[in-house]
Amino acid sequence: MSSTHFGFESVDERDKARRVRGVFDSVAPRYDLMNDLMSMGLHRAWKAYTVLAANVKAGQQVLDIAGGTGDLALAFAKRVGPSGRVIHTDINESMLRTGRNRLLDAGVTLPTVVCDAEKLPFPDAAFDLVSVAFGLRNMTHKDAALAEMNRVLKPGGRLLVLEFSKVARPLEKAYDWYSFKVLPRLGQLVAGDSGSYRYLAESIRMHPGQDELKALMQKTGFGHVDYHNLTGGIAALHVGIKC
Ligand SMILES: C[S@@+](CC[C@H](N)C(=O)[O-])C[C@H]1O[C@@H](n2cnc3c(N)ncnc32)[C@H](O)[C@@H]1O
Repeated sequence: MSSTHFGFESVDERDKARRVRGVFDSVAPRYDLMNDLMSMGLHRAWKAYTVLAANVKAGQQVLDIAGGTGDLALAFAKRVGPSGRVIHTDINESMLRTGRNRLLDAGVTLPTVVCDAEKLPFPDAAFDLVSVAFGLRNMTHKDAALAEMNRVLKPGGRLLVLEFSKVARPLEKAYDWYSFKVLPRLGQLVAGDSGSYRYLAESIRMHPGQDELKALMQKTGFGHVDYHNLTGGIAALHVGIKC
């Protein structure tokens, strides 16, 4: 039996996915509102930057992993046009359903697939671009998930990983105070759930930092990897090219 971390807790590897599912089942109905409140709207700027960096072209095939309520999938769908395709996926049905409803309200229908990033149900070399925003942190075997993302990319295709990362030292104190004192209270107030937002703060601390993630992406098959710090490293965008 191997163990892994669920926030600061050590849990049986086989239990992590169930615990993560519990978090997102609980937060799904208030996910978008909480994202805006807790990041003070910053997640929109980070995603807009990701979409710019993706530079998706008409006709391209895009896979959005851990797509949740669909921010990236929606932005990419507008860019690939009718000759391209964006597949919106997530392991969690509640999150994916919330996202699909949002997309339908915006007049966009996309193929949606419930799937685990660690075992993608897609053929090799099928996509020009794969994206995963704030999802990798929650995966049990990040190396397996990254290797799967590499497998489904065409040679020369790119993986964009937008994720919380290690903040610059001068921000650390304020960021810790905000994460551990304010976030769980905000979660309790708005979503009636402090535990899920404590998990969020803890899982960010347990996630590999910028250089560690870059090395992991290189190890899992990405020939060239670069990253861009966003808002002092609160988040980072890693771009890997399958060579
Ligand atoms: C914080 S949300 C991010 C949603 C969206 N990408 C965004 O940026 O707003 C994290 C998502 O990762 C999904 N997730 C967690 N583990 C996963 C896995 N192994 N495979 C696919 N999705 C996963 C969760 O269900 C959840 O919807």
